[in-house]
Amino acid sequence: MLLEGKNAIVTGAGSGVGAASALRFAAEGARVVCADIRVEQAKETVARIEDAGGTGIAVACDVAREQEITDLIATAVDRLGRLDILFNNVGVPTPRLGAVLEDHSAEDFQRLVAVNVGSVFFGCKHAVRQFKRQTGGGVILNTGSVAGLVAWGGAVYAATKGAVHQLTRSVAIEGAPFGIRANALCPAGMPYTQFMATGGLGDDPESVQRAARSTAANHPLGQPITAEDCAEAAVFLVSDRAANITGVLLPVDGGYVAK
Ligand SMILES: NC(=O)c1ccc[n+]([C@@H]2O[C@H](COP(=O)([O-])OP(=O)(O)OC[C@H]3O[C@@H](n4cnc5c(N)ncnc54)[C@H](O)[C@@H]3O)[C@@H](O)[C@H]2O)c1
Repeated sequence: MLLEGKNAIVTGAGSGVGAASALRFAAEGARVVCADIRVEQAKETVARIEDAGGTGIAVACDVAREQEITDLIATAVDRLGRLDILFNNVGVPTPRLGAVLEDHSAEDFQRLVAVNVGSVFFGCKHAVRQFKRQTGGGVILNTGSVAGLVAWGGAVYAATKGAVHQLTRSVAIEGAPFGIRANALCPAGMPYTQFMATGGLGDDPESVQRAARSTAANHPLGQPITAEDCAEAAVFLVSDRAANITGVLLPVDGGYVAK
């Protein structure tokens, strides 16, 4: 039980990496606040946690809004007593399939920055304040992307993930004297979550299989990345086994960025 006695918040817990991580955190003993803008999906994750004997709380939250993040952290602390782990996992894709830089409108840019960077900024800011108020610090994990490590496509999305990576490093350095760790996961293509469908690839089985074949072909290990691959790495990074690991951008990418 790597997370026994820990209290965690996972954002985007209604789908994909967030849902898989919430389930894994709970299986390792954490009590998990499952936050999502689509609260019905977060409630489904909580039901799965409870079916497996764990403890979860579903909270409706738009992570692009600072007040909703402060309310989310306050809810976790009120209900559970303290906060040990914040996983800032929400991210939204390039708005239209194949859009290159000059295809993005000002609204596209503002939405990507507001959701992908704003959520991590607000989450880190208010988690750090909470961690400094309590004894023993705390742990932040952010979801970045291989798109923030190499030029992979989706120029504005990639820039937002580069910003997530740099925020992670800065929080790691600023937080270290206070017992606060911060790391980022950098997944490569995950065709089985809702993300690619949201980005325009479609969610019918044939489109998903096509995306799976194409991501697998790009990864030296020959497989697409799954939400469960990310959840395994997430559990380790937020656990005390990673007590001396901070400021790391960990690719979960089947070797993609090593090529
Ligand atoms: N899927 C991929 O190929 C891929 C690759 C690299 C990185 N990522 C990153 O991984 C993370 C998780 O992606 P996923 O594939 O699990 O996505 P997903 O679309 O399956 O899940 C994202 C969840 O976030 C929620 N959400 C969206 N906007 C929100 C908001 N404003 N407030 C609160 N919740 C919100 C959605 O309702 C959904 O439940 C994201 O940060 C994404 O950028 C994904």
